[in-house]
Amino acid sequence: MAEPLKVDFQAPGALGGGDCVVFVGDDLKLVPAVAKQLGPKVADLIVRAAAAEQFKGKARSVMAVAAPASLAADRLIVVGVGGEKDRAAFDWVQLGGAIAGKVTGRQATILADMPGLQATPDALADLALGARLRQYSFDRYKTKKDDGNGNGQGATRLTFAVADPAAAKRVQKARDGMAAGIVMARDLVNEPPNVLGPEEFAVRAEALRKSGVEVEILDERAMRKLGMGALLGVSQGSRREARIVIMRWNGGKAGQAPVAFVGKGVVFDSGGISIKPGGGMEDMKGDMAGAACVVGLMQALASRKAKANVVGAIGLVENMPDGNAQRPGDIVKSMSGQTIEIINTDAEGRLVLADVLWYVQDRFKPRFMVDLATLTGAILVALGQEYAGLFSNDDELAGRLSAAGEATGEKVWRMPVGPGFDKMIDSKFADMKNSAGRHAGSSTAAAFLQRFVNDVPWAHLDIAGTGFGSPQSEINRGWASGWGVRLLDRLVRDNYEG
Ligand code: BES
Ligand code: MN
Ligand code: ZN
Repeated sequence: MAEPLKVDFQAPGALGGGDCVVFVGDDLKLVPAVAKQLGPKVADLIVRAAAAEQFKGKARSVMAVAAPASLAADRLIVVGVGGEKDRAAFDWVQLGGAIAGKVTGRQATILADMPGLQATPDALADLALGARLRQYSFDRYKTKKDDGNGNGQGATRLTFAVADPAAAKRVQKARDGMAAGIVMARDLVNEPPNVLGPEEFAVRAEALRKSGVEVEILDERAMRKLGMGALLGVSQGSRREARIVIMRWNGGKAGQAPVAFVGKGVVFDSGGISIKPGGGMEDMKGDMAGAACVVGLMQALASRKAKANVVGAIGLVENMPDGNAQRPGDIVKSMSGQTIEIINTDAEGRLVLADVLWYVQDRFKPRFMVDLATLTGAILVALGQEYAGLFSNDDELAGRLSAAGEATGEKVWRMPVGPGFDKMIDSKFADMKNSAGRHAGSSTAAAFLQRFVNDVPWAHLDIAGTGFGSPQSEINRGWASGWGVRLLDRLVRDNYEG
């Protein structure tokens, strides 16, 4: 692992060695207080260096000036925050990522006063979060430690010079759990499938107990008793037993119905008997990104002691071809009592979710259920890696998810469900079939799930495009994104607390 980023706050004053980070607008000007502290030579240096480097002070652009004569610092790092038009929805997390990209393995003092923007404790905590996420790398299995990923470079230290260090520190501490949650989700998705089977995944989730989360694990015996034939049908081709993990955070009023999050946790999806082609099949170790997000979310909520009752439930199975594997043509009976004809064993995620969704609404009577799943390749065709697909039977919940998406940058795009798609999954031999072919593949998958939510307000997020392999950004240089943890934390924070 790259060494973790250390964040500290101090009152403005000495620079403290290492790099000095300052902010300018698109006019290349520092705020007066910083200009005064650093002197006119530094302001002049910025203007001349900017001309030479064609640095325009655009939001998140960064320029490094080495060994500045007029400043007691190794480097002057000039960070652009753009102009008026960039202020409304300023992305502090991305800004933090951009800064961390320049100071990896170093020590930096950040003069946090910036033009046109209020560097509140909240904003700085977001900035630090972005820096932490940028710093993340998954190198547990690399035996050579200096691979240019920041390994072997020593710790990165960011010291913010702010007027009220104590207040900033308090908010920062509360935000640490968010970073921990996202890192946990990324680690789970990045882990190879030989290491992370259903049982091992469940053991990792049990670590949440340390943060006050109740964790309960169902094994296959328990699932059989409950009649979860849909999930068990997927699991029967694997040597490794399935698990369901129920996590409960009770931070809200006693007796208040919980909100619920459900994750698809296929630790490896070979396709089963309807086996996938070989190219890129290794990516299917990430077919548990929905479950990983739910675990990361529970970690984040518990760390900040969210004032809400929350249930997280994940279905952990492996989808393998085997002498005992389920076949196309098989008919299985779900916990709900509804029967399902298997058309394609590669449409396994919906079978897993069918039983977990039914179980959760039946046992917990939640205010809503949101499921996350790397469910269909079709959602990649429709939305690429920019948006997760959002399917819902409830406009209010869908609206709240969209708003949380805009606020966090983890964006969702509403896609249709409804009777037309529902009809497409009717089966000749059973109550429904698990695949309706190529047309509207993401919507027919959602229609399938909807048959198991029993009219509870529900939203399904198809994260096949956003959960892993996303384009590199200022806050993600790796494969797993940890997508959804910030989105759902925001959903809870803005609508379901207090
Ligand atoms: N896990 C896959 C979907 C997927 C594809 C996730 C690419 C991430 C990246 C899912 O289980 C699957 O195989 N879906 C099939 C459904 C089809 C057989 C109806 C698909 O999308 O092709
Ligand atoms: Mn599949
Ligand atoms: Zn799958």
